[in-house]
Formats: sequence, structure tokens, C-alpha cells
Amino acid sequence: MTTVHTHDALIARAEQADAESPLRGTRDLFDLPDGVIYLDGNSLGALPRAVPAVVNDVMHRQWGERLIRSWNESDWWGAQTRVGDAVGRLVGAAPGQVVVTDSTSVNLFKAVVGAARLRPGRRVVLTDPDSFPTDLYITESAAALAGLEVRRVNPRDAVAAIAEVGDALALASYSSVDYRTGELWDLRAVTEAAHAVGALACWDLCHSAGVLDVDLDAGGADLAVGCGYKYLNGGPGAPAFIYVARRHQDAFEQPLTGWNGHARPFDMAPDYAPAPGITRARVGTPPLLSVLALEAALTAYDGLSPADVRAASLAVTGTFIDALDGLGVDLPLATPRDPARRGSQVSLRHPQAFAVVQALIARGVIGDFREPDIIRLGFAPLYVTHADAVRAAVHVKEVLEGREYERPEFAERGAVT
Ligand SMILES: Cc1ncc(COP(=O)(O)O)c(C=O)c1O
Repeated sequence: MTTVHTHDALIARAEQADAESPLRGTRDLFDLPDGVIYLDGNSLGALPRAVPAVVNDVMHRQWGERLIRSWNESDWWGAQTRVGDAVGRLVGAAPGQVVVTDSTSVNLFKAVVGAARLRPGRRVVLTDPDSFPTDLYITESAAALAGLEVRRVNPRDAVAAIAEVGDALALASYSSVDYRTGELWDLRAVTEAAHAVGALACWDLCHSAGVLDVDLDAGGADLAVGCGYKYLNGGPGAPAFIYVARRHQDAFEQPLTGWNGHARPFDMAPDYAPAPGITRARVGTPPLLSVLALEAALTAYDGLSPADVRAASLAVTGTFIDALDGLGVDLPLATPRDPARRGSQVSLRHPQAFAVVQALIARGVIGDFREPDIIRLGFAPLYVTHADAVRAAVHVKEVLEGREYERPEFAERGAVT
């Protein structure tokens, strides 16, 4: 009986928090199935209701009827920088510094090689040993091509390591949020330290854009990359983005010199000449259906300030952590309890984390598993409510108490975990 009262009290408090949230009502902008609590927006964002009509128009009218004329009539050519500016508004970048293009992996490759060329003669790049694997793979490959040596240093030790490397440092390249634990790093401090030795800083915003009040310009970032398909809700395989601070753009020589980044692409000139500004970060013909789907998806953020979104994100992850505590769920948190050190996810550790996640999914609570023992639950504050957070905590408790994760069907792994 006590537990039931606790549930009721928690739900009542959560519903009040939802009613008072500056983001109340934004959930209605998303098309989520009934009965699902979607805690995987840090992997694939939910479908914004604005997207299907736009994609339908792009397919049937712009493509089907207007055909090649749409490059000019519908400004397909300008879409990447137009949508880049829309992303820029969410990550504190003034217009003209972000372009939507390629994948995060490809953009990171451009950023690392571009940074090496902006800092010739310097031979070291620092990155996090616990980075998302593509960041490690790409940084190693780009560094090898650019003649740099990669040193893997945990972000908590990066400021000291930067001072130690001194003027040999070309670039400090870090994710602002650890993709597994959800720990938030102080990239402003890393950037200041890098600048103090004349180096550059690149921020990976995959787990920050759309949920944190990232301030690229004010934080002094030189370069940044991030995904379009997570909290920006651009859809599966949505194009990523790259930021090059305006002060570096004229000297930014990216290695993938495709014709879409050319100053005069329709001259069909035999030699490459980079376009002015951020346009030079483009490569080849972009996936327009996806670029325009992302543009429609970003309208869910209209009228919201990144500070309000960040506050709502912290409030809802806080509600989830408090509910776990209140319900007596005794699992170690991989995510810091300190809000100043927390991104927009809550990760829990369990020796059978994969099976626990499957048992939760069977109950309609969709999160994901990350090696080796992480139950990863992302809270996209535009569509995850406080009431969802409490109900999800109740499901976690019941899955653990009932040892549902021991059921054989929850041990079966698909290609994607
Ligand atoms: C931090 C980080 N960087 C990069 C990526 C992958 O980027 P992409 O698949 O767009 O190349 C991810 C994907 O989860 C990520 O979490």
C-alpha cells in the first residue's frame, strides 16, 4: 500500500510539473504511438507532426511535378545553409557558420584535417578515450593523413594535458556529453586552455544539440559537429551539421573538395576554388528529402529558447532520478546526479543491462543498451513528460523486482542494440 501511495504522490507531483513547464504542449507536436514512453531520442528522435506534409510536398510537388526546376524555385540549392542557420539558433551560432551536410563522421574528418591545416607545424590532437567510436576512428585516420599524433586524454584531465602539450597542440576534440554515461564536460574550459596555447577546439554536439543550451560563439568554439537524427528529430539518417567559426572560414581548407563546396560550381571549372564562408564545408549533392525533413522537424523548437529547453531537460531527468530514489530502485547511476554535470540522459548500470532494456521495451518503455552494462535512457524534453519519467521509473522497478530480464526472449540480440 505504501508503494501505491508513493506512486500516486509521485505522479501527482509530475503532472503538476508538466502543467507548469514552459514546454507544456510541445509533446503534441510529435506523432508518438499510444502506450509508448520514448526514451531513445538520443539515438533516433521521434517524428515531428510537421514532417510528413513537408516530405509529401517535396516528393509530389517539388520533385514529381516541378522536377529539376525545384533547385531554383524551391531553393534546394540554399537549403543546406538555410537549415544550418536554423540549427545554429539551437547551438548558439550566429547565421552563416553552420551547414547541414553529410554525416557526423564525415564532418569530423573535415574538421580534424581542417584544424591541422589551420595550425601547421603543430603535431598533436587530443581526444577522449571514451569517445563514441566513430570519433576515435575518424580522428586517428584524419590525424594520420594530416601528420598528427592522437593522444587520448579523459576530458576531466584535458585542461592539464593541454598545458603540458603546449605549442605542439593543434586541436582538442571532445564531445560535450559522454554518449554512454551522459556526463556533461566543460568544453568552455577545454577551449580556453586550447586557445591559451594557440590551439583550436572542436566540439561534438551529437548528444547536446536540441537539449542543452550550447553556446558555440560565446564559448569560443572553433569547430563543431553534430547529428541531425537525435534530439533534432530529423529522421533516420538525417544529415549532420558542421560549424566553422566565422573567424576561421577564409582559411578553412577542408579535405573533401567536392563540387558543392566550390565557389562557382556551375562554371564546371577544372580546378577547385573554395566557396566563401561556411558553404565551403559542403561536399556533394545533398539528400534533399532528408535536409527538408530536418528543416520541418526543427520547427518544433519555434518559440523555445535553448535555456528553457535545458531547464526542462534537467527538470525531467531530475524527476526520473528522484522517482527511482523514491521507489527504492537500487541500481548504480552512471550519470552524475549533479545537474551541472548531467546531459539529457540517465544511464543505469546492471550486469544484465541488455535484457533489462528488452524487458522495458516489451512494456513500451523504449531505451537502449550500450556496452558493457549500460541501460541508457534519453529524455527529450519536448516530448518526454514528467509523468512519463515517473511511469518509466515504476516500470524499471517492476522489471527488476519481477526479474523479467531473466526471460530467455530478452537475451536475443538484433544487429542494432
Ligand atoms: C558522439 C557521437 N558522434 C558521432 C556519432 C555518429 O555519427 P554519424 O553516424 O552521423 O557519422 C554518434 C552517434 O551516435 C555519436 O553519439
